[in-house]
Amino acid sequence: MQVFLPPEIGFCFGVKRALNLVIDELKREEKIYSLGDLIHNPQVIEDLKKKGVVFVSSLSQVKKGTVIIRSHGADPSLIRKAREKGLKVIDATCPYVAKVQRIAKFLSQKSYRIVIVGLSTHPEIKGVIASVAGKKTYVVKDPQEIERIPFTGKMGVVVQTTESLDNFSNIVKNLVKRGKECRVFNTICKVIRRRQEETKKLAKKVEVVIVVGGHNSSNTSQLARLSQSMGVKTYFMEREKDLDSMDWQGIKRVGLTGGTSTPEELIVKIRDRLGQFSVT
Ligand code: F3S
Repeated sequence: MQVFLPPEIGFCFGVKRALNLVIDELKREEKIYSLGDLIHNPQVIEDLKKKGVVFVSSLSQVKKGTVIIRSHGADPSLIRKAREKGLKVIDATCPYVAKVQRIAKFLSQKSYRIVIVGLSTHPEIKGVIASVAGKKTYVVKDPQEIERIPFTGKMGVVVQTTESLDNFSNIVKNLVKRGKECRVFNTICKVIRRRQEETKKLAKKVEVVIVVGGHNSSNTSQLARLSQSMGVKTYFMEREKDLDSMDWQGIKRVGLTGGTSTPEELIVKIRDRLGQFSVT
C-alpha cells in the first residue's frame, strides 16, 4: 500500500503558539484554567489535563489564578471581566482570529451591517459577534440562508478562519447580487487555504483519503467534507485504533492528512501502521 501525505501536517502557527503559552505558564503555576477546549483535539486535551490544565465552561468557576483564552478567541468583555476579577489572563487568541474581530468591529463602526460566513455555534464566531457588541450580526453557513438576511444596504462581510473557500465564494457571489454595497474581507486563514488545496490534490490521486483529527474540529471536518465532495472514499478518524475497524482489502493508494489541531506524531503513527498493511 502506498501512503501519500501533503507537504504540511501537524499544528498550525496559532495552535503551536497557544500550546507554548500554556507550557510556559505551567512552569510557573501547577494549575491553570482554560475557558473551553484550548484546541479541538481529544489527545491534546487529555495530555493538557494531566499536565495541570483545568477546563471550565464559565469564568464563575475560576476564583483565582491564571486563565487562558483559547486560540478561537473569546468575547472581549469576558477578558475584561477576568482581569477585573484579579485573574491573570493569558490571551492565546490566534492573531488571525483577532484580525477577524478587528475587521468586524471596524466595519460596524463604519455603519456596515455585519454578515459572518461560518458556524454560529463555533466559539470563534461567538467571539466575533461579541466584538461588535450590541450591533446586529447575521451568521450564514449556506447560500440558501442569505434570503433570510433582512437588509440589502451596506453589508460588511467576514468569514470564519476555517471556512471552506468554495463555500465562502459561493455565498459571496449571492450576497453581492443582493446588497447595494458589499464590502468583503476574505479572512480564511492561509494555513487552512493551503490544507484545503492540498487535500483536493490528494483526493485526485488516491482511492481512499484518511482525515485525522478531532470530530469537533471545524477545519478538520471541512477537510473531510471537501475530500468526500471530490468523490473519493473518505474516513474521518480521531485515533490510530480506528484503523482496525476499516476494510483495507485491495486498497493500493491512500492519502493521509489532518487538521491544524492534529498532532504530527499521530499522523506519522497512522502512516507507519498503514505501511504495514499488505495489499491482497
Ligand atoms: Fe490561527 Fe489559522 Fe491556526 S486561524 S489557529 S493559524 S488554523
